[in-house]
Amino acid sequence: MTYILAIDQGTTSSRAILFDGDMTRVGTAQQEFTQHFPRAGWVEHDAEEIWSTTLAVCQEVLTNHGIGPDQIAGIGITNQRETTVLWDRETGKPLHNAIVWQDRRTASICDAFRSEGCEDDIVAQTGLLLDPYFSGTKVKWVLDTIPGARERAEQGGVLFGTIDSFLIWRLTGGKVHATDATNAARTLLFNIHTGEWSPEICDLLHVPMAMLPEVRDCAANFGSTELFGGSIPILGVAGDQQAATMGQACFQPGMMKSTYGTGCFALLNTGPDPVASNNRLLTTIAYQLGGQRTYALEGSIFIAGAAVQWLRDGLGIIESAAQSGELAAQADPAQNVVLVPAFTGLGAPYWKPDCRGAVFGLTRNSGPAEFSKAALESIAYQTRDLWEAMQGDWGSDADVTLRVDGGMSASNWAMQGLSNLLGASVDRPVMQETTALGAAWLAGMQAGVYPDQAGFAETWALDQRFDPSMAEAEREASYARWKSAVAAAMAF
Ligand code: G3P
Repeated sequence: MTYILAIDQGTTSSRAILFDGDMTRVGTAQQEFTQHFPRAGWVEHDAEEIWSTTLAVCQEVLTNHGIGPDQIAGIGITNQRETTVLWDRETGKPLHNAIVWQDRRTASICDAFRSEGCEDDIVAQTGLLLDPYFSGTKVKWVLDTIPGARERAEQGGVLFGTIDSFLIWRLTGGKVHATDATNAARTLLFNIHTGEWSPEICDLLHVPMAMLPEVRDCAANFGSTELFGGSIPILGVAGDQQAATMGQACFQPGMMKSTYGTGCFALLNTGPDPVASNNRLLTTIAYQLGGQRTYALEGSIFIAGAAVQWLRDGLGIIESAAQSGELAAQADPAQNVVLVPAFTGLGAPYWKPDCRGAVFGLTRNSGPAEFSKAALESIAYQTRDLWEAMQGDWGSDADVTLRVDGGMSASNWAMQGLSNLLGASVDRPVMQETTALGAAWLAGMQAGVYPDQAGFAETWALDQRFDPSMAEAEREASYARWKSAVAAAMAF
């Protein structure tokens, strides 16, 4: 039997998922790692811990299933995007902790470029916005902060990569410095129209181009690793949200998926032509296969599952995330408690890094059930914001259905609520490990053991469809409450 090993290096854990030749998941190993918050708004990971946990979970899943390197046809890597690592070419050692996508430290760098009038050109080339979310200003910050780093980078002695590049470098023993087009598209340094790094933006941010990885297709040869007792090729790479888009088989223009993890990321396939947003969404690369780029509109929300974690760890009103739906179902329907979970600012479509969270509509009777309901509804309201923005950009007379995945998609209560607030159908697939599956599919297809796009799309199977069951007037009244709560939080 032939297997594919998917590595899913996420924001809170590193995972290795083993798929067999029929694309069935046969095993998973997972390790959480430390989140570092050195100052308010700063979020870091130790790149060495990212590496050690990744290596450990790969070894664990192979050992647990007695699989040798000769049985693995390829490795697919998917990763938390934008998180930035700079390392020494000679020693392989990181210069600094990885600066995580959630980190807001470069907000003032973004403001300065904005006031110099640079934003329009950056948006036109990258499809992104001038926000600390993306890698470019994080790279600049490290180069500005570590003495001598920029000079060494100019001479090729310091390399930059998103997590995929760093893992490829380590897995191949420093032989390959590469990334894929989806990860490159999140750096703020990449021209998504030409498929090349942007010399103008690199110049503006003082990022030496010698430190940038080579950009390849998502299914391509990324070298091989000898670390598991024999040679295994790395054949697939994609950022986690793009991998989920492929794992959900959203291959046709107009198909949309939404993944509920720490944050929520909705991607709408827009086909071979990039669609510029008039509604503060991102234009990004959904995938690049056979040298052909397929684009997406993306809405990125920073706090989704993290709002439920806050109920558990911050407020202590639930013991496990799974309880949130049960508790929310017991909430007093007469209360309209609204939570704006802007704990790390607001992402799309507001892009307010300095906004902070707020709760509205509390009464003496508001308690854990109402807070749970408000937290889950806040995720649905934010998805509605993205949904509205996408319809504004893409136009929709069509019956667009949303394909969902990620932890929260397991909750029937939350998915019914989402369908109610969107006024649209929500489809949950049987296979909810879509991110890992997307990465595995890339590697398996490249290895010639998995089907092509059309064949893969046929394997997508529905677990449950949620249709709206809320009256239009009620839906619009509650969405109006959300909009006024967001406006008040931003004004605070
Ligand atoms: O853009 C950030 C995103 O890629 C992180 O995803 O699932 O690791 O929270 P996740």
